[in-house]
Amino acid sequence: MQCILVTGGCGFIGSNFVRHMLGTDSGISIVNVDALTYAGNPENLADVADDSRYQFHRGDIIDRDFIAETIGACKPDAVVNFAAESHVDRSIHDSGPFVQTNIVGTQVLLDVCRERDVPRYLQVSTDEVYGSLGEDGYFTEETPLAPNSPYAASKASADLLVRSYCETHRFPAVVTRCSNNYGPYQFPEKLIPLFISNARSDKPLPVYGDGTNVRDWIHVLDHCRGIEAALRNGQAGEVYNFGGRCEVTNIDLTRKLLNLLDKPESLIKFVKDRPGHDFRYAIDCSKAERELNWTPQVDFETGLKETIDWYLSHEEWAQRIQSGEYRQWYERQYGERIETS
Ligand code: NAD
Ligand code: TYD
Repeated sequence: MQCILVTGGCGFIGSNFVRHMLGTDSGISIVNVDALTYAGNPENLADVADDSRYQFHRGDIIDRDFIAETIGACKPDAVVNFAAESHVDRSIHDSGPFVQTNIVGTQVLLDVCRERDVPRYLQVSTDEVYGSLGEDGYFTEETPLAPNSPYAASKASADLLVRSYCETHRFPAVVTRCSNNYGPYQFPEKLIPLFISNARSDKPLPVYGDGTNVRDWIHVLDHCRGIEAALRNGQAGEVYNFGGRCEVTNIDLTRKLLNLLDKPESLIKFVKDRPGHDFRYAIDCSKAERELNWTPQVDFETGLKETIDWYLSHEEWAQRIQSGEYRQWYERQYGERIETS
């Protein structure tokens, strides 16, 4: 595999994946297509911008002519689709952009890849398509799809489109479904970077509901290694789950973050619950371990400490983000302003 076209490479996971691939495979070149929405930040890849193996094209995956032209010009060996609207809370306020990018955008990519005979396609999906678990059990690849948020529904729709192209057209796609990622370059609207950012400036940490909801956390590099393994060795038409085998309640995670940051628990503020808030996610990733020879490597304690250090040493990165459109979003979501200076 020589050339990979990634979409959404300026976001959190996409930028980590691009850096991971360029750093571990000297024979690879990457074409990154990103619309640069509020969540897309080219600064996330500033360190590889001058690498001759890396190209960036600003554009929208919904724009069929642009996608056809870009894929026609670089003739990739594989397309990896990270591009998405990715925040559940935003999808509750307005599902429109989620339907457009996550569903229509995926359809455009599938059609163009098929027309141009792209030999490999990977759809980056989420465990949220499976819905919510109770106290017991795990999501396997056979768990029926039962999305509860508009975000999850748009991702499930895209997964089903991919499945239908595999069945109908023998399209060479794989789907990966991963649990909650943490690590560097995550947009500070998601729990971990938001709470680090708030805690460092002694602002309240808004915990939804009673904080007993459970998430299965995986380091973003373990996810990137999983995507690479599925891209290289996954069977067309198959789905692969990835998770960190690391279930934590939101309140325990919040306390852990405050403790590591040496901040008081009095910063915890219980706020109104998210509507339709999924209670528990937990992934059975034994298929990926068995068939892709993949396993999560980053221990949560170590990964969390490193992640906190990264955010503390990249204060300007966060400040530049928070000066943008994100400020108005934060005000609407939590009813308070972000002070940036
Ligand atoms: P992100 O919001 O950080 O990044 C999304 C990127 O997509 C941004 O760079 C944005 O500019 C780009 N984008 C959005 N709409 C676009 C469009 N129409 N055309 C081109 N580019 C567009 O998201 P993320 O957290 O990095 O997630 C990446 C993928 O992984 C998503 O598909 C998401 O559903 C999936 N995923 C995320 C997690 C997680 O914990 N973050 C877990 C499992 C799966
Ligand atoms: P999030 O990072 O938005 O990821 P997801 O909704 O995809 O799981 O949220 C992780 C968990 O943290 C989820 O249970 C919702 C909760 N949460 C809060 O309690 N407060 C917050 O301000 C945010 C953003 C999330």
